[in-house]
Amino acid sequence: KRANNSASSPSPQLLRRSYSSESAPERKVAVLGAAGGIGQPLALLMKLNPLVSHLSLYDIAGTPGVAADVSHINTRSEVAGFVGEEQLGKALEGSDIVIIPAGVPRKPGMTRDDLFNINAGIVKSLCTAIAKYCPNALVNMISNPVNSTVPIAAEVFKKAGTYDEKKLFGVTTLDVVRAKTFYAGKAKVPVEGVNVPVVGGHAGITILPLFSQATPKANNLSGEDLMALTKRTQDGGTEVVEAKAGKGSATLSMAYAGAIFADACLKGLNGVPDVVECSYVQSSITELPFFASKVRLGKNGVEEVLGLGPLSDFEKQGLESLLPELKSSIEKGIAFANQG
Ligand code: NAD
Ligand code: LMR
Repeated sequence: KRANNSASSPSPQLLRRSYSSESAPERKVAVLGAAGGIGQPLALLMKLNPLVSHLSLYDIAGTPGVAADVSHINTRSEVAGFVGEEQLGKALEGSDIVIIPAGVPRKPGMTRDDLFNINAGIVKSLCTAIAKYCPNALVNMISNPVNSTVPIAAEVFKKAGTYDEKKLFGVTTLDVVRAKTFYAGKAKVPVEGVNVPVVGGHAGITILPLFSQATPKANNLSGEDLMALTKRTQDGGTEVVEAKAGKGSATLSMAYAGAIFADACLKGLNGVPDVVECSYVQSSITELPFFASKVRLGKNGVEEVLGLGPLSDFEKQGLESLLPELKSSIEKGIAFANQG
């Protein structure tokens, strides 16, 4: 099958690419909020992923244009755009993964929780449709406040009788991406090889990077450096919101992070072993029902929620301090989903 004997032999890189598309199973990925600041670059990155065979782009406006544009890229997936609630069912049907970056972003001075009033309703209605049209899909929740939108999704799925805790993920990959970048810069190590787990949740102090477990180990960082790195990771979203000065929050780095996480989910579904990413999932590693930690991904979504590992005293304190805030964000989401 491989074109090894053809007159002009393709490069090894091309061979690898054609091999991976030919052998990869059909996978449909839907992006809800696909015409937005995150949605558009995320649509682009998912179009570049050879593990995707069908890319479904949904928004309340603007998706025909985004879909037409992205569809001209000569990669494997077929692209379809859907606009408006009456097309949501078609957008979702048959999806293996649904990525949700729908909703409003922060402006300077706002917390992620300030987005709750608008985004909670959006997430609730999108998840109601997911329960109806693709109840077996893995859901990658990006919409903020993630600490609450994931519990909302869980409650909606429970009510619909479709909840599978292995299939619901809050996307916290951007926290990991930031922790890796900031650590590499401070420790002066090549960023490509850096790993840093980030646990807890996705807002302020609930974001807890575990620099004590960062690899490669850096002996040139003081306790103060580690505190500063922690604070910068926790405030990374705010750093971007302030720099954008009213024009929204992280979109490009988030699209990158979302694409990394969706790719990990696809690999897990396809049976690739040892795919581990941090994510905010149903969890029993603390007393809270949802918590972000390293998760092993497999054919059914979460295969194993990995423990926290050894924490430094500073990280133990950080864990104690974040639990009350995370708990109340979870309870707020659950209460919202069950009202009325
Ligand atoms: P944006 O305003 O640029 O785009 C949001 C899109 O959602 C818009 O195109 C809008 O039309 C669409 N939308 C609104 N209601 C919808 C509905 N009912 N169905 C489908 N689409 C709908 O915002 P953005 O910058 O792309 O951010 C989107 C969300 O992602 C925000 O809540 C933001 O806080 C969050 N976010 C999360 C992370 C993370 O790490 N998890 C990082 C960055 C941003
Ligand atoms: C981020 O971490 O960049 C996002 O959660 C967006 C925000 O509001 O900070």
